[in-house]
Amino acid sequence: MAIRNIREIGDPVLEKPCKEVKEVTPRIRQLIDDMFDTLYEADGVGLAAPQVGILKRIVVIDTTGDSPLVLINPRILETSGEQTGYEGCLSVPGKTGSVTRPNYVKALAYNEDMEPFEIEGTELLARAIMHELDHLEGHLYVEKVEGELQDIESVQEN
Ligand code: NI
Repeated sequence: MAIRNIREIGDPVLEKPCKEVKEVTPRIRQLIDDMFDTLYEADGVGLAAPQVGILKRIVVIDTTGDSPLVLINPRILETSGEQTGYEGCLSVPGKTGSVTRPNYVKALAYNEDMEPFEIEGTELLARAIMHELDHLEGHLYVEKVEGELQDIESVQEN
């Protein structure tokens, strides 16, 4: 287990576009393992490499707790529909806000062996893919929040 330090909003590393991965080196495999450790430790749904200070196009997602998904150099092929719901981010601790996202996403990505694959998701998985891909462009969900960013506790009480 290696938990990495999660960068928080205001850290310039979260505002920069990430670089393509050309080769999955042992170092990158270690990064991916550490990203999962960090994600599960923080009880999150997704984590992008810039959130641990690495400007590479890698995201890890797990919407159920036992369906780990690694997306290397992901790009969106197709989106449809719409969902509006509360979203949070490990880099914006204690906060949540309402964001509208597509309800369906199809993406192309590479796995840890640099083999291409397509991934389709709806609802939470679609939201997570869109959210994490935004991180790779240097964007945080707070830019897309409709209304005010709120404290998580105040929303849970409602
Ligand atoms: Ni995030």
